[in-house]
Amino acid sequence: MANLASEFLGIRSPNPFWLASAPPTDKEYNVVRAFRAGWGGVVWKTLGLDPHVVNVNGPRYGVVYGADRRVLGINNIELITDRPLEVNLREIKAVKRAWPDRAMVVSLMVPCDEDSWKTILPLVEDTGADGIELNFGCPHGMSERGMGAAVGQVPEYIEMVARWCKKHTRMPVIVKLTPNITDIRFPARAARAGGADAVSLINTVSSITSVNLDSFSPEPMIDGKGTHGGYCGPAVKPIALNMVAEIARDAETRGLPISGIGGVTTWRDAAEFMALGAGNVQVCTAAMTYGFGIIKELTAGLSLYLDDKGMALSDLVGRAVPNVTDWQYLNLNYVTKARIDQDSCIKCGRCYAACEDTSHQAIAMKPGRVFEVIDAECVACNLCVDVCPVEDCITMERLAPGTLDPRTGQVVGDGHADWTTHPNNPMSRAAE
Ligand SMILES: Cc1cc2nc3c(=O)[nH]c(=O)nc-3n(C[C@H](O)[C@H](O)[C@H](O)COP(=O)(O)O)c2cc1C
Ligand code: SF4
Ligand code: SF4
Repeated sequence: MANLASEFLGIRSPNPFWLASAPPTDKEYNVVRAFRAGWGGVVWKTLGLDPHVVNVNGPRYGVVYGADRRVLGINNIELITDRPLEVNLREIKAVKRAWPDRAMVVSLMVPCDEDSWKTILPLVEDTGADGIELNFGCPHGMSERGMGAAVGQVPEYIEMVARWCKKHTRMPVIVKLTPNITDIRFPARAARAGGADAVSLINTVSSITSVNLDSFSPEPMIDGKGTHGGYCGPAVKPIALNMVAEIARDAETRGLPISGIGGVTTWRDAAEFMALGAGNVQVCTAAMTYGFGIIKELTAGLSLYLDDKGMALSDLVGRAVPNVTDWQYLNLNYVTKARIDQDSCIKCGRCYAACEDTSHQAIAMKPGRVFEVIDAECVACNLCVDVCPVEDCITMERLAPGTLDPRTGQVVGDGHADWTTHPNNPMSRAAE
């Protein structure tokens, strides 16, 4: 079995799976159970200064289900920890002492003034914690009080607070970013400019998951009213992967360690985050949905994958980053056509409906419900593959260079040709 031992900012953990700051890491009881189950580390539920916040007493979660009632996304209106600071600090100290080989990072959110940070940092340092994570991400409740996403949406604040933290503690500083922003590179650059050792992302996405059509209130409903919350779980993974990749390949933040968060449910999700540049991953919704036991599948799956590939964990990190590019550099000589495997086709007609109604009328329905691709119409959009219920029944096949594409009437070119040199591009060198 591949060795999953991980080091992130010099913080060692037996595997790269940490529990994200959230209810699973809210207290000693949970964290000890998580460590017993095998989790590599935790980011403790966000601490604030006393007096501690209070949560609503009604439901905190909204949910989006898949057709099989599997949880696709959870929306929450929970705040940071609602337990006294002293209680949390005492428990953090006790857990770290009892589990020295696990990563113990403490998430923090205090008002945006230097004195508040100066006050809380030594208290955390005194617990023996391995590092801190600055929660600049919660989009609800705390942001209205000038914290959380209200800080994460202003790069200058990120830089300023990160700098204060670096000044007042020797612990590694991770800045947790909000996805509720147009371009994630700017807050990441600000974190680096402020001296942060790493970024973690994503925190939750501002959202309303549903509206109750009897009471006409957003869910979760508190006495007839609702408010936006933070969305997470498998549904947000694509947003998170893109943001991680953007930071990993940006010239100004390249090399900045990243802790990947957002919808990690299986070892594959984790491997994808790491391939896009994350040094480790954090998990919340999957643990809340399935319990701490999933760590066994996560570690076993990742380990087997690495064995299968003959790779070490460190070989995986960033492996896909060089293959993330901008649209204009994609090879226009890469020409494909859909191919239907008649033996596995169940004749449902979904591909036909999709292509005929919404794509390029490139699938013919022949007698006996035999579906065939018309190469002269197929633009290779891939929609038929996506909607076909039978895996690998439709595949995309590349036309070899030198063959005629019956759709364009042109011979497929050899080598690479992209938009930057295309004659139709007014900005291209060829057009000049
Ligand atoms: C109920 C709940 C409470 C959360 N509380 C916090 C918090 O206190 N601090 C924080 O940084 N993130 C908090 N988060 C966000 C998670 O740490 C994580 O960033 C987010 O859920 C995305 O990961 P996931 O898709 O694995 O759930 C919370 C998430 C949930 C669902
Ligand atoms: S790839 Fe697109 S255009 Fe081609 S057959 Fe499928 S849906 Fe139609
Ligand atoms: S969607 Fe797939 S299974 Fe259904 S008719 Fe098309 S190729 Fe056959």
